[in-house]
Amino acid sequence: MLSHKKKVLMAMATVGLVAALIRSWTPRPYGAVDVRPKQEARRVERLLEERLLVSQNKYGDVPYRVKDSVLSLLARNGCVCEGDERTINIPYANLLFPRVSAQNLNTAFKDSELDEVKRRRAQEYSSFQKRSQTAADLLIVAEANSPLQYPTQGVEVRPLKTILIPGLALEDRIRERYSVNLTATMGTFDIAAFVDEVSIRGEGEMNISLSSRYLTALNRQLQFITYTNTLFHPNTADTVQFVTDGHQAVFTIKVRHGLTPKLYNPGPKGEYNVSALVTIATKTFLRYDKLQDLIDSIRQFYPTITIVVADDNEHPKPLTGPYIEHYIMPFGKGWFAGRNLAVSQVTTKYVLWVDDDFIFTANTKLEKLVDVLETTTIDLVGGAVREVTGYKASYRQTFSLEQGGEEGDCLHIRRGYHHAIKGFPNCVVVDGVVNFFLARTDKVQQVGFDPRLARVAHLEFFIDGLGVLHVASCDDVIVNHASKIKLPWGQSESDKAYYKFRYPLSSSDTAQTRSSLLYFKNRFQCLTHN
Ligand SMILES: *[C@@H]1O[C@H](CO)[C@@H](O)[C@H](O)[C@H]1NC(C)=O
Ligand SMILES: *[C@@H]1O[C@H](CO)[C@@H](O)[C@H](O)[C@H]1NC(C)=O
Ligand SMILES: *[C@@H]1O[C@H](CO)[C@@H](O)[C@H](O)[C@H]1NC(C)=O
Repeated sequence: MLSHKKKVLMAMATVGLVAALIRSWTPRPYGAVDVRPKQEARRVERLLEERLLVSQNKYGDVPYRVKDSVLSLLARNGCVCEGDERTINIPYANLLFPRVSAQNLNTAFKDSELDEVKRRRAQEYSSFQKRSQTAADLLIVAEANSPLQYPTQGVEVRPLKTILIPGLALEDRIRERYSVNLTATMGTFDIAAFVDEVSIRGEGEMNISLSSRYLTALNRQLQFITYTNTLFHPNTADTVQFVTDGHQAVFTIKVRHGLTPKLYNPGPKGEYNVSALVTIATKTFLRYDKLQDLIDSIRQFYPTITIVVADDNEHPKPLTGPYIEHYIMPFGKGWFAGRNLAVSQVTTKYVLWVDDDFIFTANTKLEKLVDVLETTTIDLVGGAVREVTGYKASYRQTFSLEQGGEEGDCLHIRRGYHHAIKGFPNCVVVDGVVNFFLARTDKVQQVGFDPRLARVAHLEFFIDGLGVLHVASCDDVIVNHASKIKLPWGQSESDKAYYKFRYPLSSSDTAQTRSSLLYFKNRFQCLTHN
């Protein structure tokens, strides 16, 4: 008969075995994971910064002369909020000599509330930075004459999956014993094969040590090192420290799901079938006569293209006809809300934005715009709008951002373009275009139209799209404008009255809403434009 003590021991062993089995069946070694930004990553960052500082301070006593012309290009915190002085006082001076005007965006807030707004903005910005940065953004310097060989970039693993780390090796002078250590923060190391004469500690752990009396054996073993991501994150990076006696190196392994594409079936091959590739989107308010003219003009050239209309009239009227989708919105929801709704309903590869007072003509050749998007990396291409006066506007804008430290950055908007496009003599690359553009639907949906911009707004979309959208402008695809000129930035007095009358619900001052969004949401302190 078993003694009581033995029974207890056996029971404990069984429990232990079951627990061990359960553990081995559970794929994730973490219960609840703290998904706040990692302290560990911060530690590695500090380590890297310290080493950079040491190497930068090394030659501090060697004198140098500054080259001013280049130094000004490097100017840090060089965010200057300055416009041009008005020099000539003649009518139309602004049209003849475009003047740069500067706007301090913090004037959107009262002095009494500015400090509080600043504090909140700084807080939101800091958490945005933590969310959007990974170890792959760290500055890493490969130190001089390191005997360590390792991959500097391009190593990627799917979350919770395993890869062989390519390129690890040691090229050391003759020693009695060769040893290396690898340390990760979000995963473990192991070996896919054993090599004789190599001793290994820490298989399946975040630290692994390898050593051997033979360099060739150690290097062979290094070819079999695997990395398994154990801490789930859909898109981040791990920093790996690779150390041998007296030398250390750091590299990153990207951890992320594969990118899931959003593909659109273009239909059978041949000529571009614009109806299968493009949806026309527009927003209407109290201009049904104009809208009907637009629809009629589109039908002359594209009888089967789908037209999506977002409508925030107080008393909506029915729109009839084939290939029309009419979305009724709450009264006076506004301009960007309508754009957002219309674009959200598009199911074709491309969406063409038009205003409800445009008219298609024989010059409105959408195929040309489709051709630009089909054959280049451009995401959005604008055309030109011919005013009733005959003036043709393509409203090309370039943006540049200057870093401005704690106060926020400066955004400089200028008329002009960056460069021409090979193969498309009428097209140039820009950052902002007119209200008539063809774009990749998924890209426009990704940027979105901020529904807080109820009245006149346009370039705000391109500001939100900076760094996301690759924009071009072609002036050989022209749509006619049935109404008088209306530039997105400058409203004439009659425009102001029009919008006041048209949008009685949104009583807030447009310019102030716009400034406060640029100040808080986009974290700018200053806007200059000409
Ligand atoms: C791994 O190594 C680092 C430094 O080399 C050390 O701080 C850490 O405690 C080690 N972790 C384990 C689990 O051994
Ligand atoms: C590797 O790590 C072990 C402890 O895990 C340590 O004793 C050894 O010195 C380290 N080797 C190197 C080359 O840093
Ligand atoms: C073009 O696409 C539309 C919509 O998908 C379709 O109805 C039409 O038959 C197509 N036309 C041609 C010529 O393929």
